[in-house]
Amino acid sequence: MNKRSEPADDMDVVDLLIHQHNEIRELFTEVKRSKGEARAEAFGRLRRLLAVHETAEEEIVHPNARRMAEDGDLIIDRRLAEENLSKRMLSELEHMGADSPEFPKRLQDLRQAVLDHAENEEREEFPAIREHASEQQLRVMATAVKAAEALAPTHPHPGVESTGANLLIGPYAAMMDRTRDAVRKVMKRS
Ligand SMILES: [Fe+2]
Ligand SMILES: [Fe+2]
Repeated sequence: MNKRSEPADDMDVVDLLIHQHNEIRELFTEVKRSKGEARAEAFGRLRRLLAVHETAEEEIVHPNARRMAEDGDLIIDRRLAEENLSKRMLSELEHMGADSPEFPKRLQDLRQAVLDHAENEEREEFPAIREHASEQQLRVMATAVKAAEALAPTHPHPGVESTGANLLIGPYAAMMDRTRDAVRKVMKRS
């Protein structure tokens, strides 16, 4: 199941993010069901999509929701804490590797955390974005989410798994850093 369903061109930013939530859910199932090389490969795709998705939310969507939603600070502080927890869980999975006997259990824990988080966003955050953002803001946010997906690196860095500095922050964090740079460049131009 390597083929991804493409988002439609006219999706607004909220539709795009929900589409990504569904893709994330499917990728978790794919990683869980696969073995050996195929599992490592599917985990790589899940890691990239999570980096793209959470970085776009942190850079573009959460700051807007913080201003727009009632109790925005409270809601977004909770979302950021959930995202940080997932980052730590993902780093641990990277560290142990997809062939570790512990991997399935830890993957299940991460899946639960990520999907609960996505549900909280869909319930508490996205409705406020849709209600309060202008057409122009919705368009700019959608462009930035698409740019994050298009520009994010497919692999962390050439040789990242073996170099000193990146070993400290891990491939997932390195991927988020590079996606963040790409998103900020696009936002500056829009
Ligand atoms: Fe998120
Ligand atoms: Fe999300």
